[in-house]
Amino acid sequence: MAKAPLFIWILAYICWIAAANAEYKIYQDPKQPTSKRVKDLLSRMTLEEKIGQMTQIDRLVASADVLKKYNIGSVLSGGGSIPSPKASPETWVDMVNGFQKGSLSTRLKIPMLYGIDAVHGHNNVYKATIFPHNVGLGASRQRIGAATALEVRATGIPYAFAPCIAVCRDPRWGRCYESYSEDPKVVRAMTEIVSGLQGDIPANSRKGVPFLAGQKNVLASAKHFVGDGGTTKGMNENNTVASRHGLLSIHMPAYHDSIIKGVGTVMVSYSSWNGVKMHANRDLITGYLKNTLRFRGFVISDWEGIDRITSPPHANYTYSIIAGVGAGIDMIMVPYKYAEFIDGLTSLVKNKFIPMSRIDDAVTRILRVKFTMGLFEHPLADYSMIKHLGSQEHRELAREAVRKTLVLLKNGESADKPLLPLPKKASKILVAGTHADNIGNQCGGTTILTGIKKTVHPQTEVVFSENPDSGFVKSNKFSHAIVVVGEPPYSETFGDNTNLTLPDPGPSIITNVCASVKCVVVLITGRPVVIQPYLAQIDALVAAWLPGTEGQGVADVLFGDYGFTGKLSRTWFKTVDQLPMNVGDKHYDPLFPFGFGLTTKPVTAN
Ligand SMILES: *[C@@H]1O[C@H](CO)[C@@H](O)[C@H](O)[C@H]1NC(C)=O
Ligand SMILES: *[C@@H]1O[C@H](CO)[C@@H](O)[C@H](O)[C@H]1NC(C)=O
Ligand SMILES: *[C@@H]1O[C@H](CO)[C@@H](O)[C@H](O)[C@H]1NC(C)=O
Repeated sequence: MAKAPLFIWILAYICWIAAANAEYKIYQDPKQPTSKRVKDLLSRMTLEEKIGQMTQIDRLVASADVLKKYNIGSVLSGGGSIPSPKASPETWVDMVNGFQKGSLSTRLKIPMLYGIDAVHGHNNVYKATIFPHNVGLGASRQRIGAATALEVRATGIPYAFAPCIAVCRDPRWGRCYESYSEDPKVVRAMTEIVSGLQGDIPANSRKGVPFLAGQKNVLASAKHFVGDGGTTKGMNENNTVASRHGLLSIHMPAYHDSIIKGVGTVMVSYSSWNGVKMHANRDLITGYLKNTLRFRGFVISDWEGIDRITSPPHANYTYSIIAGVGAGIDMIMVPYKYAEFIDGLTSLVKNKFIPMSRIDDAVTRILRVKFTMGLFEHPLADYSMIKHLGSQEHRELAREAVRKTLVLLKNGESADKPLLPLPKKASKILVAGTHADNIGNQCGGTTILTGIKKTVHPQTEVVFSENPDSGFVKSNKFSHAIVVVGEPPYSETFGDNTNLTLPDPGPSIITNVCASVKCVVVLITGRPVVIQPYLAQIDALVAAWLPGTEGQGVADVLFGDYGFTGKLSRTWFKTVDQLPMNVGDKHYDPLFPFGFGLTTKPVTAN
C-alpha cells in the first residue's frame, strides 16, 4: 500500500471534523442539559417556526401537510373530536403518528405535542375506564392519575388537560362536578393527581420546573387559572368578584401545590376576575404565575379563549392576540382558524406591537416542556400500551373509587334502626328510577341495576320498574326498594342551573315508592340538589355523585360487602336561596354540613 503524504491525511481529518459538525446539533443530543438544548434550538428558529410552536389546532383541521407547512406546535382533540365513533386504540395511535410524521419532516424536526381532555379517565375514548367524577372525591387520586396516564398513552397521546383544580364555591355552576371541593385545603390535597399523571417528582427537583417521569406518564395541565369556581351565582365563564386576598387564599393555593409537584402546563380560565378577562390578565399570568410562583412550564389558552376576550367573541382578533399573548399566554388553543392567528401574530411582531422577547419566552417554555418529556427522543407511539386501555386492573380501581366516594346521608329512623346495609337474601326487591338502568345517565359501563342483580342472593327476585305507580308498589310485597334518580347528563354552560331541583320524574318516583315500602334513594348528581322536601319520606339516602363506568361499586356498599366511608366534599344546602354557602361562612345553616357522612361496617356473612 502506497503511503499517502501527511497533508492528505490532515486534509481528510479536517473534512471529517467539518462533516461531523454539520451533523451534530446540541439540541438533538439528549446528553446535553435541557437549558442548552432549548437555547440552541431557539437560536436556529425563524419567526415563522416560533409562531408555529405557539399554535395549537384541532385534529379536525390537522393533517401532516398542515403541520409541516405551518410548523404547528400542538394538536388537540376538543371534546368529542375523535377519529371515528368507537375508534380502536390502534386507530388513535395511527392518527397521532400520522400528524407527527408531518412535524418530523420539517426543517428542524420539532415534534408536535398531542393533547386531549381526560378529566376523569380517558373520557373521549371508547372502552376506556371512566372514574368517578371529581366531586366524588376519591381517596386514591394518585393511583387514578397513574391509571389515566396509562390509558391516554395507550392511544398514543402524551398530554392530558387535567387536573381541574377549580374550587367550586357555588353548585349552581354547571361544571361544579369537575371541582374536588369547595374547600381549598381539599383541592390542594387532590393535586396528588398531578404526581399520578406525570409521575413522582424527585426530591432534588427545582421548584417550578416542569417534570415528567417517562413514557408511562403524561404531561398534565392545571386548570382553569384562576377563579373559575368563584363566579357570580355560579354562572359559567362569568365574573369572579373577590378581593386579591380572597382570590389568593381560595382559588390560588392549589396552583402553588401543582407547580411544586412539577405540573408542566397551566390552562387559563374563560372567566374574569373583578371584570378583567383572565385571558388578558397580565398581572396574574405573567406577574403572579410566572414571576411570583416561578412557574417554568407553559401557559395554554382555553378553546377559542383569546377570541372570548372581546364581547362578542372574535369581534377584534388583533386586539385578542395582543391582549392574550401580551398577558403571557404561550400556546394558543386556536383551534380552527390557524392561518388567521399565525398571520395576525406575525404581523404584530413584525410591527413591534408584541416584542420578540415575549415570543422567545413562549417558545422557550414550550420547548422546555417538549425536551423534558422526552418528546424529541420518543416522538412516535407504538401499540405496546394498548393493553392498558380499560384494563381489569383499572376497572377494579374505579370500582374501589366508587365505593369510597359514596356518601351516606341518612340511614333509617335512628342509629339503632339502620336500613343499610341491605340483606342480600330477600324474597323480592324493587329497583326503580330514571338512573338505575341507564348507562347514559351514569356515564357508560355497568349499570347500577346490573350491579345489584350480580350482588344479591340468587333466590332474591329483583323487579325493575323505572317509574312505577303507587298501586303497583303497594300490590307487590317488596322487602325493600332501591330508587336511583338524579340529574341528566350535562357539561359546561348547559349545566348552569339556578333552581337545583331534582328533575322530574325523580320526586314522584320517590313519593310513589317510599310511601309504601322501605326505600333507599341513591342520587346520581354532579352536585348537591334540593332534597329537603323529600327527606322525611326517604328511609336511607346515598349521594353517589357521577360514578362513571363501574356502577358495581354502588351495590358493593349497599349490600355490605364494603362499608360506607365517604364524607361530603361540599356543603349540602337546604334551599337555593342560601347559596353561595360554604364551610367556614359566618351564616352556615346546611342540611348536611361539609365533611358529613354516616358509616357502616362491612358484613361478613350476608
Ligand atoms: C356574566 O353574565 C351576564 C349575564 O349573562 C353577562 O351580561 C355578563 O357579560 C357576563 N360577564 C362576564 C364577565 O362574562
Ligand atoms: C382592534 O384592536 C386594535 C388594537 O387594540 C385597535 O387598534 C383597533 O382600532 C381595533 N379595531 C376595531 C375595529 O375596533
Ligand atoms: C331548573 O333550571 C333548569 C336549568 O335552567 C331548567 O331546565 C328547569 O326547567 C328548571 N326547573 C324548574 C322546576 O324550574
